[in-house]
Amino acid sequence: MKAVVYKGPRDVVVKNVPDAKIEKATDVLVKITTTNICGSDLHMYEGRTNMEPGRIFGHENLGTVIEIGSAVERVKLGDRVCMPFNIACGFCENCERGLTGFCLIANPGNAGAAYGFAGMGPYSGGQAELLRVPYADFNCLVLPPDAEEKENDYVMLSDIFPTGYHATELAGVQAGDSVVIYGAGPVGLMAAYSSIIKGASKVMVVDMHKDRLALAEKIGAIAVDDSDGSGVEQVMALTAGQGADRGCECVGYQCCDHKGHEVPNLTMNNLVKTVRPTGGIGVVGVFVPEDPHAKDKLAKHGQIAFDFGQFWIKGQHIGTGQANVKAYNRKLCKLIAEGKAKPSFIISHELPLDRAAEAYKNFDARKQGWTKVILKPGQ
Ligand SMILES: NC(=O)c1ccc[n+]([C@@H]2O[C@H](COP(=O)([O-])OP(=O)(O)OC[C@H]3O[C@@H](n4cnc5c(N)ncnc54)[C@H](O)[C@@H]3O)[C@@H](O)[C@H]2O)c1
Ligand SMILES: [Zn+2]
Ligand SMILES: [Zn+2]
Repeated sequence: MKAVVYKGPRDVVVKNVPDAKIEKATDVLVKITTTNICGSDLHMYEGRTNMEPGRIFGHENLGTVIEIGSAVERVKLGDRVCMPFNIACGFCENCERGLTGFCLIANPGNAGAAYGFAGMGPYSGGQAELLRVPYADFNCLVLPPDAEEKENDYVMLSDIFPTGYHATELAGVQAGDSVVIYGAGPVGLMAAYSSIIKGASKVMVVDMHKDRLALAEKIGAIAVDDSDGSGVEQVMALTAGQGADRGCECVGYQCCDHKGHEVPNLTMNNLVKTVRPTGGIGVVGVFVPEDPHAKDKLAKHGQIAFDFGQFWIKGQHIGTGQANVKAYNRKLCKLIAEGKAKPSFIISHELPLDRAAEAYKNFDARKQGWTKVILKPGQ
């Protein structure tokens, strides 16, 4: 099969590799029809993780079931399925509580597994023609009859729509709240979209990229252009000097100042500044325990200089971590099926798998107009 293989920093290649296959009775084999490139892939692509060369990327996957393990009962041949990026067993202590991003079984010795992901188990990604799906009865979301027609919407259930929603859950967004979101990448836009769906009164999205901010405006959020470094003041002005009720971090450890220099504590401290006293902060942007290639001394060991005193005095609270996609994907799927949500609005490029290298290069450069790339292995 053809697959997107990581060769080394900023180097991926589409090449022939051995076919993915059923390895356990609880697996299914999926023929991938849509697979997205994610901001999380970029940390690995840039060589900022311990991703092993030779591995296949891709954790945002949708396709058709073409083979079924002997112990699979619910999922059927021909089902159109979307897989959460998390691989979860469904029966461990964390899965039982809906915390599938922290499964204790799928990646022994760690909490949490994923397809094609550094440090999250040996599983191959789905930027390929075929994908092995473990614990398939638990992990496959079987899609409604309009799966093909709305494929570009449903594929967002694999990660960024639930992840954006998770950010709002961690922050505690409720109807009527004002929300500030750092990052207008796919995840930040989905956090904004989720806030709007929940009935937030005012949603402010901070970024420096005009094309991404324009998308935020298109869904009814307020674009806060930080290209001159005035984002924090703008948010304070928009909230009568009080700060927003809730805040979401959708950038992660590679966040930059307006001049493009990495400043790992910037978004976290900006959240402390721009969320009101007793407000909630949800952090879904990725932070890593070790970042040997960081320029910042603290960041090398996954540390940031966090304004804890301000945070404490303001009585804020914070929630972090990988999204438990399964906790939300079924309900968000219903919003799509009923025409109440259309997350495909963020897609800028739909390309055949063969063009993955070019797509990585442009998306990594945050090149104007490259908001979200979806790959179509069948084409
Ligand atoms: N927790 C999870 O489950 C989960 C799931 C998916 C993605 N993620 C993470 O979410 C983050 C965002 O993903 P994405 O796909 O949207 O990535 P992306 O890199 O495309 O978007 C990040 C955006 O943040 C902006 N940005 C950089 N510095 C900023 C700053 N100081 N203030 C405001 N905006 C700033 C960039 O201009 C960019 O538009 C990544 O860290 C990714 O790994 C987490
Ligand atoms: Zn992703
Ligand atoms: Zn589990």
